[in-house]
Amino acid sequence: MTKVQEEAFFNNLNLSLEEVWKMLIEGADNRHSPLHTPAVGTVTSAGTPSQRIMVLRAVDRGNHRLRFNSDHRASKVTDIYNGSAISVLGYHPGAKLQLRLSGIGSVQSTGPEADAAWQQASLYSQRCYLTDLAPGSPVDAPTSGLDPVIEGQKPSAEQVIPARANFAILRVEVQKIEWLYLTHGGHRRAIFHWNEAASRWDGSWLVP
Ligand SMILES: Cc1cc2nc3c(=O)[nH]c(=O)nc-3n(C[C@H](O)[C@H](O)[C@H](O)COP(=O)(O)O)c2cc1C
Repeated sequence: MTKVQEEAFFNNLNLSLEEVWKMLIEGADNRHSPLHTPAVGTVTSAGTPSQRIMVLRAVDRGNHRLRFNSDHRASKVTDIYNGSAISVLGYHPGAKLQLRLSGIGSVQSTGPEADAAWQQASLYSQRCYLTDLAPGSPVDAPTSGLDPVIEGQKPSAEQVIPARANFAILRVEVQKIEWLYLTHGGHRRAIFHWNEAASRWDGSWLVP
């Protein structure tokens, strides 16, 4: 019986870590990647977990950071005060890979990074931040939350100007990466902790 050819990273921690970042970067760049829309978890003030799907907008490997965009008035932003715990969970069926990341969340609504993210967003994306009421506000009737004048059409650059005040970036400083690779030959699971003093990832294997 021929042995199944495994990926080069199969028994190699350093290559597994390389694969993590390669998959994350591709997730941000490629809207068809399943890692483009991971589940982002926060902890509410009541201490309960809260998850939602978000678009992974950018990956900064050097600073081990991820960036997402959000309405500044959203409940996830309320959950994240500087230094609060945050998790990011994704599964790539093609790569047979689960990535479970955790770290520190922070929100910025002003500054060069938030400004640049706003500029990168399309007019349709910018329009999402134009609702009068905050996301999650209770309403009596079904609604997009947008003014009917702007609904169903591409907004102009002038029309979306007020939306900038509601826009924020959500940054995740990744401190722990858990990697699970599924294969018939025997799964592989590894954990990587960011070692701030040594400025490197320390990895070790786990039983899957
Ligand atoms: C495919 C998909 C992509 C989404 N992307 C984002 C996103 O990038 N930013 C965001 O704030 N919400 C995004 N959402 C909506 C969130 O899942 C969530 O419903 C909303 O942000 C309110 O979450 P909150 O009340 O926990 O703040 C997305 C939803 C889906 C289904």
